[in-house]
Amino acid sequence: EKRELILAFESSCDETSVAVIENGNKILSNVIATQINSQRRFGGVVPEVASRHHIEQVTICLADALQRAQVDYQDLDAVAVTYGPGLVGALLVGVTAAKAVAFAHNLPLIPVNHMAGHIYAARFRGEIEFPALALLVSGGHTELVYLKKPNSYQIIGETRDDAAGEAYDKIGRVLGIDYPAGKKIDELAHQGKDTFDFPRAMLKDDNFDFSFSGLKSAFINTVHHAEQVNQQLNQADLAASFQQSVIDVLVAKTMHALQQYPVKQLILAGGVAANTGLRDALSAVMKKKHSDVSLLKAPLSLCGDNAAMIGAAGHVAFRAGKRADLSLNADPSLEF
Ligand code: KG4
Ligand code: ZN
Repeated sequence: EKRELILAFESSCDETSVAVIENGNKILSNVIATQINSQRRFGGVVPEVASRHHIEQVTICLADALQRAQVDYQDLDAVAVTYGPGLVGALLVGVTAAKAVAFAHNLPLIPVNHMAGHIYAARFRGEIEFPALALLVSGGHTELVYLKKPNSYQIIGETRDDAAGEAYDKIGRVLGIDYPAGKKIDELAHQGKDTFDFPRAMLKDDNFDFSFSGLKSAFINTVHHAEQVNQQLNQADLAASFQQSVIDVLVAKTMHALQQYPVKQLILAGGVAANTGLRDALSAVMKKKHSDVSLLKAPLSLCGDNAAMIGAAGHVAFRAGKRADLSLNADPSLEF
């Protein structure tokens, strides 16, 4: 069988990434230039700053990705690129670079949804079996997605307010933890206990939607109140309590969804899928309650934004005949 090589670009937020992927599931290269060190001083991602970094990095990442994969343009079969959702100026850099390569080397251009990319990151762990359910948790999204077949996405539940990662980052500020705070809070949580009684929102509602703003407010109020009365709170216990609340809600809603949507596979993906507490909790509950459903977790190193996942999703779209022409534009609020 002929090997299919896809060159993939990702630039939706604060990572510039270019990858070369073979047959949709083998990484030949995956170069990631992160801006986190530069964005940290702003406490978040400043869109204009992000665009400028992408412009500086994209051609460097491209050359590096081709060189590391030891392939040349003529070896490629297609170019895949994230065209949304994300920051418009950031997306445009990747879209423009991908279009330039596709045009110059007469290659098909494959448009990829960033969130579909996160789901397909799981492909590097094993093939996706349909129908599947994906718990997609990132800095901008928290969704339960039903995948009846390849390239078919139905959002059956989503957050009504903050995304899970967003909540992590916001409480991180209160704890004095640098952006993005998820990983540090995860580590801190492992040193503490769930001693604060933080809310678990919408657990009894008969839907698959989430809400994390109440938890965030409860957390912030607890910390501010303690400051006012000069009381020292145990940071590790605070982190552990917050994290347990997030995990309880994500796991409960996912279990509820599995009852109504029988699937062959559960996929865990997105930046927050790197959370060790969440990974362990989901493994344990699946083993106990749904041993017939396989659990496919995106590899730890591919939970955050990267172009390898865009190549994996792009390959599926490529096989399905999905193409864009040079009029492809960035779509900051792209939906599935
Ligand atoms: O998917 P991603 O890299 O970017 C978006 O598309 O949003 O997700 C980034 C988010 C950030 O909010 C970050 O704090 C969170 O993922 N995150 C984590 C962990 N690692 C990253 N949240 C909880 N636990 C972690 N270990
Ligand atoms: Zn992402």
